[in-house]
Amino acid sequence: MNLGFWDNLSKPIMALAPMADVTDAAFRRIIARYGKPDVTWTEFVSADGLIRADKAGQEKLMKGLLYSESERPIVAQFFSAEPEMIKRAAKLAQELRFDGVDINMGCPDRSVEKQGAGAALIKNSKLARELIVAAREGAPRLPVSIKTRIGYNKNEIETWLPELLAEDPAAITLHLRTRKEMSKVSACWDVAHRAVEIRNEVGSQALILGNGDVRDLPHARQLARETGVNGIMLGRAIFGNPFLFSNSQEFENRNDEKFVRKKLEVMIEHTKLFEELLGEGKNFSVMKKHYKAYANGFDGAKELRMKLMETKNAKEVESLVFNFLRYRD
Ligand SMILES: Cc1cc2nc3c(=O)[nH]c(=O)nc-3n(C[C@H](O)[C@H](O)[C@H](O)COP(=O)(O)O)c2cc1C
Repeated sequence: MNLGFWDNLSKPIMALAPMADVTDAAFRRIIARYGKPDVTWTEFVSADGLIRADKAGQEKLMKGLLYSESERPIVAQFFSAEPEMIKRAAKLAQELRFDGVDINMGCPDRSVEKQGAGAALIKNSKLARELIVAAREGAPRLPVSIKTRIGYNKNEIETWLPELLAEDPAAITLHLRTRKEMSKVSACWDVAHRAVEIRNEVGSQALILGNGDVRDLPHARQLARETGVNGIMLGRAIFGNPFLFSNSQEFENRNDEKFVRKKLEVMIEHTKLFEELLGEGKNFSVMKKHYKAYANGFDGAKELRMKLMETKNAKEVESLVFNFLRYRD
């Protein structure tokens, strides 16, 4: 089994979740600067699109594979229901010098499932296994991992996990909910413990990462201790808090004046990077989700947030924040 970089990480591994239109190249670069996770994923990228789209479409998708050295180790995540497409996307990831390849088998998005990809693969373990083999063929030097859920309509960990383990992936991240549950119920961390037992019973070396509703690093460490997983993946907790993975006291998520200033400075830096790296391909509205989270939990946050929603570029954001902070002096 090719564990690649996974072997060198100290455990428990603290991972940044892939989140489409959130953990893009700009935000990930900011996160690497202010609190670096042990491993980072790209947003999911359509393998079919990368191979089949016209030139403009391909160029757009390639933005999803933009990364900087500061983010390493970084894993490229793809979705597809066609082994040949996954093989070719994995080959591209190896050529682009990614550290690993991940196949999305958990996305509940209708357009993804309609293709037979994402969470639909939980209902088609034969194809899921073929995709793992194909990724390895395309990128023989890279470790292949899977991100999935614990079942489709119900908890199917007893049957679904052994199917994946049979193909010897380097790591499996379990979002501890079923497809049916979407994100409406709490993540079921008891299943993480059972997943580790199953992995041990079948004698696999695959690393198991747990994911779902983790608030911060202390919470993550506690869950790793309780369940025995090799790592924890944090997603939504990064919203408005690029310091999430930092162990530094200075960057704890406090809402004192010093922290508010720092957070807003980072928000400007993030906006500038977004414009520089992704401005041509992505709509500026992507940043508005971040503003809602950055401008939160301090005096005047609501008014600032409302004004941020009206902005159209980094320059406007910078002057707005500058005025906001001056007024507070
Ligand atoms: C806006 C958003 C986009 C997401 N995009 C992806 C994605 O591209 N690939 C993926 O595997 N999971 C994706 N997810 C799922 C997350 O990676 C994660 O599994 C989920 O948010 C649960 O973790 P959390 O409770 O720590 O947020 C996305 C989730 C959100 C909220």
